[in-house]
Amino acid sequence: MSYKIRDISFAERGERSVKWAEMHMPVLMRIRREFSADKPLKGIKIAACMHVTKETAVLMETLQEGGAEIWLSASNPLSTQDDVAAYLVRKGIHVFAWRGETEDEYYSAIKTVLSGHRDITMDDGGDLTVMAARIGINAIGGTEETTTGVIRIKALEREGILRYPVIAVNNAETKWEFDNVHGTGQSALDGILRATNVLIAGKTVVVAGFGHVGRGIAMRARGLGARVVITEVDPIRALKAVMDGFSVMKMIEAAKIGDIFITATGNKDVITEEHIMEMKDGAILANAGHFDVEVSVRDLEKIATSKTDLRENLTEYTLPNGKRVYLIAKGRLVNLVAAEGHPSEVMDMSFADQALAVRYLLSRKLDPGVHELPREIDARVAYLKLESMGISIDSLSDEQKKYLESWMI
Ligand code: NAD
Ligand code: ADE
Repeated sequence: MSYKIRDISFAERGERSVKWAEMHMPVLMRIRREFSADKPLKGIKIAACMHVTKETAVLMETLQEGGAEIWLSASNPLSTQDDVAAYLVRKGIHVFAWRGETEDEYYSAIKTVLSGHRDITMDDGGDLTVMAARIGINAIGGTEETTTGVIRIKALEREGILRYPVIAVNNAETKWEFDNVHGTGQSALDGILRATNVLIAGKTVVVAGFGHVGRGIAMRARGLGARVVITEVDPIRALKAVMDGFSVMKMIEAAKIGDIFITATGNKDVITEEHIMEMKDGAILANAGHFDVEVSVRDLEKIATSKTDLRENLTEYTLPNGKRVYLIAKGRLVNLVAAEGHPSEVMDMSFADQALAVRYLLSRKLDPGVHELPREIDARVAYLKLESMGISIDSLSDEQKKYLESWMI
C-alpha cells in the first residue's frame, strides 16, 4: 500500500464523516449495490484527481466495490479533508493528498497517481488529463467533473493530443443543473459565512459571471437579503440576469458599490488592480471558479502595503490609499477551502453520473475525444433521485409520444 497523507490517525473521524455522507447519497449507494453484485470494474486501475471530501470517499468506495484499484490525488492544494484521506487509505485506496500542498507537491502527487498503468482517468479541472496528454499516456477512457476541465480537455482534443475518450460528466443535466447551480449557490455562501460570519442581509453582493454557478450564488445571496449586482461579458446571460431582476453593470462600476465580490466565471483577471483600487474599505473578495486566477492575487500582493492573516481563511490587505480589502481562502475555491464543498445530496447525482460514466466507458469502444454522458444515464439518475425522495411522476402514453413527434393536431 503506498500513500502520502497528513496523518493516518485521523481515520476514525473521517469514517464518521463518510458515514454521514453515505446517508445523504442514496443514488450512489444504490449504484454501489449494483457494482458490488456485478463487479463491472474488475481489474481496472483508476487514477483520480478529485477534491478529497467525504462525498468523494463515497464515490471511491463505490468504484472499489465495483472491482477497481484506485490511486487518488487532490484537485486543489487546499481542499483535502485530511480525516477523509486517512479513512480512504485505511480502506485500501492509494491516496496522495493533504491540505496545504505546495504547487510542486500538488503536481508531483498527480504524477504519482498517473505513473504505472492506469485504465481510467477521473479528473476535476483537467490537470490530470493535461498531464496524461503531455506525457503521452493512453487509457481506456476518462471522465471530467467541471466546466473548466471540459474546456481544457476540448482544447487538448482540438490540438490532436487527447488520445482517449473522455466523458464530460459536467455537461450531464443531473450534474450542472444541480451541482453547479444549487451546490455552489449554497456552499459558496457557506464558505464566505464560515470565513467572515458577516451579515448578508442589506449588503451589496457582486457576482461576476451569470452562468450556472453565478446564477446559483446570485439566487442564494438574494434569498439571504442581499442586493445582488451581476457582471457579465455575454449579452444573453446579462439579459437573463436583468430579467431575473438583478442589477447588471461593468465591474469597474460594481467595484465602487460592492460589499462582497464573488467570481464565478472560469476566466482570469476578472478582478484586478484597477477594480480593487475603487473598492470600499472593508470589501470582501471570494472566488468560486475552478482556478485561483479570477481575483488577481498577484495584483493584490503587488499593490498591498501590508498583509495580515486575520482569521482562518481570511487575509487582510491594506492598499496604498489606506483602505483594506479581505481575501477569502487565498482566492481559491471558496466553498471547498473555507467550507466542505457541496452538500452530499447534490454530489449524490454528480458522483452517480461519474460512476455510471466509468461503467459506460468500459462497456463499449468510444473514439478518442470528448463525449457526452448518454441521455438515458442522465435520466436514470434523475429517476433514482426522485425515487429516493418518494416522488413519482407521470409518463407519456404511446398516443402522447406520437403526438409530440407529429405535425398533426
Ligand atoms: P458557465 O460557462 O456556465 O458560466 C461562466 C460565465 O462567466 C459565462 O456566462 C461567461 O460569459 C461569464 N464570464 C466569462 N468571463 C467573464 C468576465 N471576465 N466577466 C464576467 N463574466 C464572465 O460556467 P459555470 O458552470 O458557471 O462554471 C464557472 C466556473 O466555476 C468554472 O471554473 C467551473 O469549473 C467552476 N465550478 C466550480 C464549482 C465549485 O464547487 N466551486 C462547481 C462547479 C463549477
Ligand atoms: N466539488 C464541489 N463540492 C464537492 C464535494 N463536496 N466533493 C467533491 N467535489 C466537490
